Amino acid sequence: MKRMLSGIKPSGQLTLGNYIGALKNFVNYQNDYEMIVFIANLHCITVPQEPAELRKNLKDAIALYLACGLDPERSTIFLQSDVMEHAQLGFIMCCNTYMGELNRMTQFKDKQVKGETNLSGGLYTYPSLMAADILIYDPDYVPVGEDQKQHVELARDLAARFNNRYGEIFKLPEPLVPTVGKRIMSLSDPTKKMSKSDKGDKGCIYLLDDLNVARKKIMSAVTDNFAKVAFDPINQPGVSNLLEIMSVLSGEPIDSIVKRFENSGYGDFKKAVADVVVAELDKIQTRYRDIIASGEVERVLQEGSEKARKIAYKKLMKVQKKIGIEIR
Ligand code: AMP
Ligand code: TRP
Repeated sequence: MKRMLSGIKPSGQLTLGNYIGALKNFVNYQNDYEMIVFIANLHCITVPQEPAELRKNLKDAIALYLACGLDPERSTIFLQSDVMEHAQLGFIMCCNTYMGELNRMTQFKDKQVKGETNLSGGLYTYPSLMAADILIYDPDYVPVGEDQKQHVELARDLAARFNNRYGEIFKLPEPLVPTVGKRIMSLSDPTKKMSKSDKGDKGCIYLLDDLNVARKKIMSAVTDNFAKVAFDPINQPGVSNLLEIMSVLSGEPIDSIVKRFENSGYGDFKKAVADVVVAELDKIQTRYRDIIASGEVERVLQEGSEKARKIAYKKLMKVQKKIGIEIR
């Protein structure tokens, strides 16, 4: 079975967009790949964090991943900082990354160009740590969003450089960027992606939204004046977005939903979409509350980090021997 690895950096609360665009895919990947999934908490602190808030976000993210169907029996799930080998290989990777390479990384460059001040050294060298996160497990595939592809490519370059210099050590991973991936749009401006930065407006549904609040957000979603339920993302982006959400969550093809609502007004259609979304959120939230109350998060992390550490330790030792810092 091929191995797949991904790191999740929880920045704030997870949204319906995250669920449809990322979480649901992970759950499906479990059927075909050996999955290694970790919460990248060291990456979180490359920008300032409020400790209590960070702690809550980390725990919520794990509980929500489990609630959405990530299965600790089949996948290895852990917290990055619990496997200290990441940071150690991260430093070794950093010593083998050219500053020119880090200067080209768009995430850091963008922040610099925007004139953000007091950027940390950790943020600058984060791609080297990410390379270590990946290479230490020899994965075949790394599923990432478009913005992270450049970092996986750096990991490949570093792996090739290491292998050239010290002999075969690392597998070269393939980034897996969804090409036909679902893009869930904002409910209040369906030409924009639904995102957590929408905070405060009605465009974004959070997985932990109160169910009535979520329903109201769907009912007040921006539509159009065509008065016809049809899938036409260019001319009817709002209605098409709702169709897409309903179809992904219910499994009913878009065509069939369109047919069912061809003689209905937007009010009835939205109510049906809201029913489907609320039912899904309700299911996730019920499991989430059980998981938080049961201490399952702590248990999963304990077992996951033990499994991961076995692989990571062996690899780190091999690297240290090859590069000459290990003398035993
Ligand atoms: P982010 O929350 O932007 O860091 O994204 C985390 C993951 O969720 C990435 O794989 C994104 O592609 C996915 N994602 C975030 N927002 C959406 C959205 N509105 N529609 C589809 N996928 C999304
Ligand atoms: N940098 C990724 C993000 O911001 C998270 C991440 C850290 C990651 N290490 C990784 C993703 C290794 C894939 C593989 O979303």
